[in-house]
Formats: sequence, C-alpha cells, structure tokens
Amino acid sequence: MAKELRVGLIGCGFMGRTHSNAYRRLNNFFDVEHRPVLKAICDTNEPKARQYAQTWGYERVETDWRNLLTAKDIDLIDICVPNVAHAEIAIAAAQAGKMVCTEKPMAMNAAQAEEMVRAVEMAGVPNMVSFNYRRVPSISLAKQIVDEGRIGRPFHYRALYLQDWTISADVPQGGDALWRLDARVSGSGVTGDLLAHSIDTAMWLNGPIARVMAKAETFVKERKHAVSGQVEPVTIDDACMFLAVFANGSMGTFESTRYARGRKNFNTFELNGADGSLYFDLEEPEYLQFFEYKQKETGKKTASHLTGWRKIHTTNSEHPYMSHYWVPGTCIGYEHTFLNALADFVEGIEKGTPAQPNFRTALQTQRVCDAVIASARRSEWVDTGAE
Ligand SMILES: NC(=O)c1ccc[n+]([C@@H]2O[C@H](COP(=O)([O-])OP(=O)(O)OC[C@H]3O[C@@H](n4cnc5c(N)ncnc54)[C@H](O)[C@@H]3O)[C@@H](O)[C@H]2O)c1
Repeated sequence: MAKELRVGLIGCGFMGRTHSNAYRRLNNFFDVEHRPVLKAICDTNEPKARQYAQTWGYERVETDWRNLLTAKDIDLIDICVPNVAHAEIAIAAAQAGKMVCTEKPMAMNAAQAEEMVRAVEMAGVPNMVSFNYRRVPSISLAKQIVDEGRIGRPFHYRALYLQDWTISADVPQGGDALWRLDARVSGSGVTGDLLAHSIDTAMWLNGPIARVMAKAETFVKERKHAVSGQVEPVTIDDACMFLAVFANGSMGTFESTRYARGRKNFNTFELNGADGSLYFDLEEPEYLQFFEYKQKETGKKTASHLTGWRKIHTTNSEHPYMSHYWVPGTCIGYEHTFLNALADFVEGIEKGTPAQPNFRTALQTQRVCDAVIASARRSEWVDTGAE
C-alpha cells in the first residue's frame, strides 16, 4: 500500500503552482511508494489561499506557516515564499522534525544558509533546494556526458541568463511578485534570482567555483515602492557579470540582466573541453548540442569530414527522465522539471540516497552568490570558500 507524503505548502504564487502541479502528477508518471497528500496550503493572503485550495485540492487553508509546524498530519513543508522568509521557516520546520524543501535562492545570504544546513543536519530530516533546471532532461544529459568523460579537460564555461521585464522606470518595487526588486525581501537582484540558477548548473557540471570577479549595475536608481507608495532608492543589482575560476582550472563567464530587450527567460550555457563541447538553450529545452572532437570509446579523433555540432533531441526513453513520459520524439515542458525534482526527492527518501542539491550542496551556490556581490562592491577578486 502507498505511503502518504503529507504536504504543507507555503506560498500561493508562481512556484506554489509549479510545486502543487508536481505533487498532483507524481504518481501518474513515477512508480514510487509515496503518494503526496495535499494537506494544507498557507498564504498570508487568505482569499488567494482559499482559491488555491480549490484549484489544487488542498484539504485546508492556513494563513500562518507556524501552524504547520505543530500539525501532526504534515510530513513535508515546502517553502515557496519570497527569499526573506526561507531561512526562518526552513529552520523552524527542521526543528519541528519536518522534511523541508525550499525554493531558490536558498537564503538571503550564506550566513543564513549555513544556519539552515545546521538545522536540517541536526534534525536529520530530508531536504532539498529547488534548482529545477538540473531536471531539464537535456541538462541532465549534459551531466551524464561530462561524467562519461566525453568533454575531456575543461577550459571554458559560459553562461547567460537574460530577461527584460524591469527596463521601464515605471515598474514599482515591492509587493506582489515585485518583491524581487526590493533587496530587503529578495536579498539581491539578478544575482540571487537568476545567476543562482546558472551557478548551480555550472558547479554541477564543472565542479566548484573557487574565485570570482564581478561588476554589477543598477540602471534605475529610484522606483516607487508598491507597499509604502514612496519613491525609494533601488538597492538590487539590475545586471551582474562575473568572471570565474573553477577549482579544476577552467575559466568561466557569467552574465545576467533584466535589461536585455527581447529576452524573456534566456538561459544558456556552453562548456568547452579538450575532447568536446556542450551547448544548451532553455528556449529549445528538448535539445542538447554536443561537439565531439575525440571519441570516448575508441580514443580516436572524430574524422574531420564528420565533425560538427550534433543537436541531440533529448526525447528518447534512454535519455534522463524521458522513459516516464511519452514516446520518443515527443517533448515535455517546464512544469516537468518540478515533477522530475519531486520524483528524485521522493526516490531519495525511499532509497536512502538524498536528492541533490540538498541544503549542504546549495550552500556552495549561496557562497558564490555572496562572493559575487562582495566582488562587485569591492571591485576585486573574491575567494568563494566553496569546497
Ligand atoms: N525555481 C525557479 O525557477 C523559480 C522561479 C520563480 C521563483 N522562484 C523562487 O520561488 C520563491 C517564490 O517566488 P514566486 O515567484 O512564487 O513568488 P510570488 O510572489 O508569485 O508568490 C509568493 C507568495 O508567497 C506569499 N507570501 C509571502 N510571504 C509569506 C509568508 N510569510 N507566509 C505565507 N505566505 C507568504 C505571497 O502572498 C504570495 O502569494 C522565491 O524564493 C523565488 O526566488 C524560483
């Protein structure tokens, strides 16, 4: 008989939807022992929470997340609220003995993230941070190709994460969804919001980032605050670029902005090694591009007249996650990255092999984010302390 995984989800916004969808779909696509039960939905906005409960089938509504801590019918607390609240909720949830998943960035800063790691490790509760892009099958395939030794010695890693939604000076800061422009709630601008994703993917594929040198910019210096109604200074980074040195000696460039006109969620990376290269673009997520200079199996150079970028359609059942879905040649979407992440989390509990990135792993990404911000402030190279 299926074991119940009784969920209390906090935050009825964008991520609350993606996670709720994943809980509802898990057993349709993955053969796991646990069956998610949507016990409680929590949001400070009660009407929104009530609507959510109806749409997604949560059994009850809470407006104070603390009520989930003492609830005996909750196994997992899932944090989908703005960044400022992640640490407090996660630490309290762990201390209450609950499993805990949180959205990214893990925390406002590495000091908070360290406390979160301590809390989950002291409590011994399963934990995960939602860096969902790892679960795009093409990105998981990139990891497989790297692990198979097909890239050889890595030289360069190049990541872009570009958006364009804050170019107008009329966009207010603060409040619903726009809390991302208020550093008191978000911790940082594009660094925590977008670069954190790029950094997590980069370190997963290419190992720790040891040092960074960053330049950040705030293009619009003042904006009306949606909550106070006052025009206030903007303290987030609107754009941030940094150079990176990986522990394996390769070099990285990372660029992120919300001022790239025409770019909505343009997330790409390229890895160049001695034996091959990889390229991914989230606008064509079902493809991974691979250039094979030297064949792993034979150790021989690919014949010159046959070299060229290979565009792998990551939809075969042999590709990561794809055997759970449709027939070869048919695609899955953004929402499946959260479903794949949940499946990994649940399988991790069942097999005793914790899903990644757990809090300890995600702490390294937070440390790199902190180093990027410190470097941009000081205009100097900063060591990340990443292990
Ligand atoms: N993995 C990803 O790709 C991804 C994408 C978007 C957002 N995120 C992250 O997810 C988190 C949520 O972002 P979002 O876009 O869903 O935000 P959102 O603004 O759409 O929704 C946040 C919700 O949280 C509620 N809320 C705020 N404080 C609360 C509190 N203390 N208790 C209960 N409810 C509270 C708000 O009323 C709102 O309904 C953030 O940390 C964000 O960085 C991750």
